[in-house]
Amino acid sequence: MDRIAAKQRIEALAADIREHDHRYYALDKPSISDAAYDKLFRELSALEAEFPELRPADSPTLRVGTGMRTAFQKIKHQQLMLSLDSLMSETEAREFDARIKKGLGLDDGLFAGEVVYQAEPKFDGLSIELVYEDGVFVRGSTRGDGAQGEDVTANLRTIRAIPLRLRSEGPEAGLRGTLAVRGEALMPLPEFEALNRRLIEAGEEPFASARNSAAGTVRQLDPSITASRKLDFYAYDLLHADHASFATQHELIAALRAWGFHVEKDVRRCTGIDEVVAFHASVAAKRDALAYEVDGVVAKVDDRGNHARLGLRSRSPRYAFAFKFPPREEFTQVLDIVVQVGRTGKLTPVAQLRPVDVSGVTVARATLHNQDEVDRKDVRIGDTVRIRRAGDVIPEVVEVLKDKRPRGAEPFVMPKKCPVCGAPVEKEGAAHVCTNGLACRAQLEGHVIHFTARSAMDIVGLGEKTVVQLLDKELVKDLADLYHLTPIDLVSLEGFAEKSIENLLAAIEASKKPRLDRFLFALGIEHVGATVAQLLADHYGALDGLLTATEEDLQEIRGIGPEVADSVHRFFASKRNQKVLARLAKAGVKPQVEVKRSGPGPLEGELIVFTGGLETMPRPDAARKAEQAGARVATGISKKVTLLVAGPGAGSKLEDAARLGITVIDEREFRKRIGEAP
Ligand code: IVH
Repeated sequence: MDRIAAKQRIEALAADIREHDHRYYALDKPSISDAAYDKLFRELSALEAEFPELRPADSPTLRVGTGMRTAFQKIKHQQLMLSLDSLMSETEAREFDARIKKGLGLDDGLFAGEVVYQAEPKFDGLSIELVYEDGVFVRGSTRGDGAQGEDVTANLRTIRAIPLRLRSEGPEAGLRGTLAVRGEALMPLPEFEALNRRLIEAGEEPFASARNSAAGTVRQLDPSITASRKLDFYAYDLLHADHASFATQHELIAALRAWGFHVEKDVRRCTGIDEVVAFHASVAAKRDALAYEVDGVVAKVDDRGNHARLGLRSRSPRYAFAFKFPPREEFTQVLDIVVQVGRTGKLTPVAQLRPVDVSGVTVARATLHNQDEVDRKDVRIGDTVRIRRAGDVIPEVVEVLKDKRPRGAEPFVMPKKCPVCGAPVEKEGAAHVCTNGLACRAQLEGHVIHFTARSAMDIVGLGEKTVVQLLDKELVKDLADLYHLTPIDLVSLEGFAEKSIENLLAAIEASKKPRLDRFLFALGIEHVGATVAQLLADHYGALDGLLTATEEDLQEIRGIGPEVADSVHRFFASKRNQKVLARLAKAGVKPQVEVKRSGPGPLEGELIVFTGGLETMPRPDAARKAEQAGARVATGISKKVTLLVAGPGAGSKLEDAARLGITVIDEREFRKRIGEAP
């Protein structure tokens, strides 16, 4: 592609991606699939790599952090970043409202009336200032001491909900001069949970809360780490604008949205404190279901003209307050530490707690993850501990109150034998694992429950309780046994009558033709979640190829690394697993293959590598076309590669291919082979 065409394409791609980012991150309304998005992104990255001088200053690819920062510079904020008065009760909220009414002269006589508030959830994250010059994001900082914070610009650039350029749909006045926006950087709870799981598995220290993890991530010295952890950002205030001004809070929020920021949808204009109290209750009721940690409601006087009239106290305004929820933390006592065995054989120590109410939920257990974690926190039976729960996340022990430890409390040690089946326990990384595989009742139970679950084989009516009964009665000893159950077997189960037996057997029958990816996921292979299962299914199309795949073959699939390849290979190499798979097949379980082509494609059986530049199509398009033609695409040269498509600038891969005697063709020949006119 020539320079002029590249420039146009880069600009078009950048604009497209910006639009998709906005739809995805700010509007929550994506209009293309992740795969299609990745494709655009890869094409842009490739073009920018080829023409570095054409990369726009606000290119979406700059969100992927590169390079190391050593320390954070201090940045003075455009305006003091105030904090809010925290109110813990309705009474306090009503008192605050009364003071506002007094301040605005709404408390007596002719002008008596209600204050109009803009109420919104109070995010429990990290407060951030973003500065835009002529509509382009130039720097961002943490709140720090309110007057100045740390320059975390490089890290903030990696957060996709932060627009790098304000959208022209927003008020034009904001696109000129300096504009400073305040908002909250947050880590979604599922992401927080996954991050902690990864840290714990790697033997590293997990974060105590989603808030800490957001703060730790924004203040990372290496922006590529920030980029790898998916943070979100919600805008809620204007700290400074050279030109734009807004009469009310709700107009401001609308402008922030139009400029491209992610703003909270669940905000309410409240007339009077009663409505604020009601809103507080409604958010509290939803609190556990939200994807973010929310620790209260913020109410702001909607009329921004009145903000100046009401003025400030030393660190907080008189026009707004935070009406908090009850804390997510409590103190309680560890009554016991029991060890659970999971589907993969991993032993997890779980603290049994004196039941305690934590913001409306009774907590009686908390996970301690593994021996390293227990040692790090030094949790012992009898200890008094501070615990925390966030959303649906499993409660955590935050710390032990050492001065309350009873005399003689012993450190916890993981058992040498599996507490369920008595088999020897082995240490694998930070984990302790039962070595008995599916002969261990706990592993079998987890395995069957996973297999039948909705996201797997989706056998309706085969819930956990039923699985436990089937195992207790030894009606099921492996997955294939599920397909040999008879009405007589089921009659003996608690809660089963004629109709439910009929339904369950019908559901089992109906599960015999699963999609291949779901079936692979259902098998519960370590490291094979829904995404990896899909990759495997797409690549192999049928179970047969997988059964004989070597680790090398597996690693050639894009998105599959050595750890996953090892685990998949071990699973299919196991005699026991092969037997179960054969029995499943015999019972009629036939994973369904998606037929993509009729007959073999022109490149059937080839393993292709691309190197050097391509002139008529971007690399990802070429890869896709090769796959559509039946080939597999790899990134590195190995003995298995059958075809190298080499373009201008090809280097070491071309040499390696020549050495290995691999056929080398050019782009023109490639296009001919896939049936495109040269
Ligand atoms: S408004 C002057 N709105 O709560 C008012 N703050 O101490 C500026 N927070 O540090 C803040 N959600 O980081 C506002 N919807 C929201 C908020 C919010 C969370 C944080 C903010 C501040 C703290 C209060």
